[in-house]
Amino acid sequence: MHGMYPGDLLTVDSFEVGVIGAGYVGLATGACLAHLGYKVTCLDRDEERITSLQEGTVPFYEPALDRLVARGMRSGHLSFGGAQELAWVVRRTDVVFVAVGTPQGDDGSADLANVASVAGQIGHALVSEGSASRERPLVVANKSTVPVGGGDYVSALIEEGVLEGGGATAKADFVVVSNPEFLREGSAVYDTLFPDRIVVGADSRGPLEIMRRLYEPIIGQDFPTEFDPRPKTAVPFVSTDLASAEMIKYAANAFLATKISFINEISALCETTGANVSLVANGIGLDGRIGSRFLNAGIGWGGSCFPKDVSALRAAALAYGYETPLLDATVAVNEGQLRRVIEKLERHLDTLMGKRVALLGLSFKPNTDDLRGAPSLEIARQLNALGATSVGYDPVAGILAGRALQGLEVVFDPYEALEGANAAVVVTEWEEVKGLDPTRAAASMREPKLLVDGRNALDPTSCREAGLLYASFGRE
Ligand code: UGA
Repeated sequence: MHGMYPGDLLTVDSFEVGVIGAGYVGLATGACLAHLGYKVTCLDRDEERITSLQEGTVPFYEPALDRLVARGMRSGHLSFGGAQELAWVVRRTDVVFVAVGTPQGDDGSADLANVASVAGQIGHALVSEGSASRERPLVVANKSTVPVGGGDYVSALIEEGVLEGGGATAKADFVVVSNPEFLREGSAVYDTLFPDRIVVGADSRGPLEIMRRLYEPIIGQDFPTEFDPRPKTAVPFVSTDLASAEMIKYAANAFLATKISFINEISALCETTGANVSLVANGIGLDGRIGSRFLNAGIGWGGSCFPKDVSALRAAALAYGYETPLLDATVAVNEGQLRRVIEKLERHLDTLMGKRVALLGLSFKPNTDDLRGAPSLEIARQLNALGATSVGYDPVAGILAGRALQGLEVVFDPYEALEGANAAVVVTEWEEVKGLDPTRAAASMREPKLLVDGRNALDPTSCREAGLLYASFGRE
């Protein structure tokens, strides 16, 4: 299974790359590798998504990605295909990235069904007609977030696919490496081209070398870019064993989620003691050991990654008989943040029954239309249960939010959302929301004109001077 990699067999120019899964991760990876000059084919089983991409339309909102995709297609470096083309891609490529979703299963653990299905198909493809001509082993680079041991599981399933497709004596040359992804939605292209580090885990040296060479232009920051000046001069390449790379991904997300929950717990203490959490975050963040990023207090963390990854890590620990008191607290504090939003509304409105509440920003964070794990939807549900009506505004995710939550009225102008509302909640700190004119907001709203700033994004003084009843998290 672990083949040899004669160094002179492979020059960087000869790399052909396949990417399975054309979501945020797969598409950003594919488009960026095409930008670096590789020939890339992205596959997805969702025919509609592939048709849309072949027509040059990125099927979700992600800044800069559409431009990069268009350029890749024009230059002939980037193409798209359906699942039926997997065998063709496996035959002609050196590295196949697996970038399919690993959603949260019913018991909290990571659901590996998509990864398993792709692994089986790769196995079949490796022994399909024409694959005997492979000159070197296929590197299967797993970008999907899988628990420790996931890479070995993928190897076993590929092996099974090989035996199923080629008979009991069939053999195929492949190796699975872990290449966790750290890009953020909303800045996927930037994060892929200018990452803080590239992590690759494998249990043999050959595939690590292949991956290092594939990433050489990013490691050496040797590619053309519109970013001027370049944000980075070099990017560390961290090579580890398979298990450590898989753990790095979970540990990174769990740490960041914990950092946010930490500042949110401090923000509650700031409220009771009269301290200001923004000043506190600045004061501790300047300590290089702590760092100032991911210290914004507010509604808490959501999205498609932190909740499912923290949950999967807890589930994996449980399966090994370990307790995770710190992660448990991270989740509990985060759940408490939504309660704090409702409490702030109730405190100032007496009752929510019959009140109208505007939700400003609906996507789980700015610069994306992703609503997975979006606090807005949960807040709207709770408001509804308490007898209030909610009306939502979002510059990009409005239509999707209206579809996701029946009964949520959606409008496309923030002041229209505020019209006649007794209260508003800043849920997502879009520029359009941060730039709200408090005087116009107050003129549109109905008493008591409460503004709960769930992201500490607006200026308290100008809001109060404009006549709004302003409440935020951990500051006066
Ligand atoms: C996160 C990680 O940041 C990425 O490194 C990782 O690759 C990705 O998950 C993933 O596993 O795929 P993402 O979910 O796109 O990226 O969004 P973030 O920018 O990390 O924000 C996560 C959540 O934390 C959001 O709900 C955001 O509003 C919240 N947040 C973030 C805060 O409440 N406070 C902060 O200071 C920062």
